[in-house]
Amino acid sequence: QNELYKAGMFAQRLPIVTTDPNKLEEQARSKMALTSFNYVSGGAGEGSTMDANRLAFRQWKMVPRMLRPTSGRDFKVNLFGETYDSPILMAPIGVQQIFHQDKETGVAEVCAEIGVPYILSTASSSSIEEVAQASGNGPRWYQLYWPQSDDITISLLERAKANGYKVLVVTLDTWAMAWRPADLDQGYVPFFKGVGNTNGFTDPVFREKFQKKYGAAPEEKALEASAEWIGDVFSGAPHTWDHIALLKKHWDGPIVLKGIQHPDDARLAVEHGCDGIIVSNHGGRQLDGAIGSLEMLPEIVEAVGDKCTVLFDSGIRTGVDIIKALSLGAKAVLIGRPVVYGLGIGGKYGAKQVLQGLLADLDQSMGLAGIPDIAGCNRSMVRRVQYGG
Ligand code: FNR
Repeated sequence: QNELYKAGMFAQRLPIVTTDPNKLEEQARSKMALTSFNYVSGGAGEGSTMDANRLAFRQWKMVPRMLRPTSGRDFKVNLFGETYDSPILMAPIGVQQIFHQDKETGVAEVCAEIGVPYILSTASSSSIEEVAQASGNGPRWYQLYWPQSDDITISLLERAKANGYKVLVVTLDTWAMAWRPADLDQGYVPFFKGVGNTNGFTDPVFREKFQKKYGAAPEEKALEASAEWIGDVFSGAPHTWDHIALLKKHWDGPIVLKGIQHPDDARLAVEHGCDGIIVSNHGGRQLDGAIGSLEMLPEIVEAVGDKCTVLFDSGIRTGVDIIKALSLGAKAVLIGRPVVYGLGIGGKYGAKQVLQGLLADLDQSMGLAGIPDIAGCNRSMVRRVQYGG
């Protein structure tokens, strides 16, 4: 991490990707296809929740400590009995092929190189098996968009298990796609074209069902297949808490619920035997008007922090953001949009550079805050402030 910092200090600039999160977005806008850029950068509704995610971080400030030995800073964290190199994970992000041809396989490969767990989305453009191969010995988790058809759900879980995905992340906040003006205005169809090789298309149970109904393979009728897949996964009555039992029956490892914002839901997750939760509002892409994700973190940690593992995402852009979330009780955080911008700008190496840049920033900021290790990120290091105007 330090090497990257020094490179920036002594060189003219760091290669490819800027270290300024605001400029990163600008750089991505100028490099990516506009439809793809709009898809990543956009939020639901008027974008008020996306804004709230960032504002929430501004309302917490670090209170640094001095004259503490912090050299050889230790980033290691233990999640569900496994030790990971750092407290960051790659957030599940769908259809990565529309951002760069390196897609999920490329990002999984570079995540493995730097020890960042890769969370593969159900909506991916590379299959469960392809990503497992690309990630090799790297840590990987599987994110489920929970299909209405139980036989497809079970098939996805079996494939993920067989391919070395250790933790199941179940995203609860996207059982229907939100009202997202940027995408509705430009139409989702461009993305349908980009998902020609989704997990859905490669899933044997989905393929068989599709063949029966349409008399053709999914890739021969790609638009219909996308519509069927999206119809099963993203539209319809949501599941209820009782259905968690089905997932527990077909998954041996830890189960983590993503999209938790209410302390009562966090308690229900524990009651239903889940091992962890991700406090997240999907980066402001689902319910617009929902509260900034960081706002709910302390209350949720208070409710269940000693009973399950609390992870966090939505709005992380800098090293200090990571420290703030950890100090408020998260055990690790997921990085979303910034990595996608890196991918769009410079392919898998761009994605890698964003992650390495964040780790370097985290390292430098922990040192300056007087925090020697991840356990040192605690409530005494942050204060809530409110600036007027
Ligand atoms: C997402 N997110 C997401 N979440 C999920 O569970 N499955 C998915 O397939 C996707 N796909 C996806 C695509 C894009 C383009 C974005 C930006 C986000 C949500 C993601 O995992 C995470 O919750 C947010 O990205 C966090 O917000 P920020 O920090 O990226 O703003």
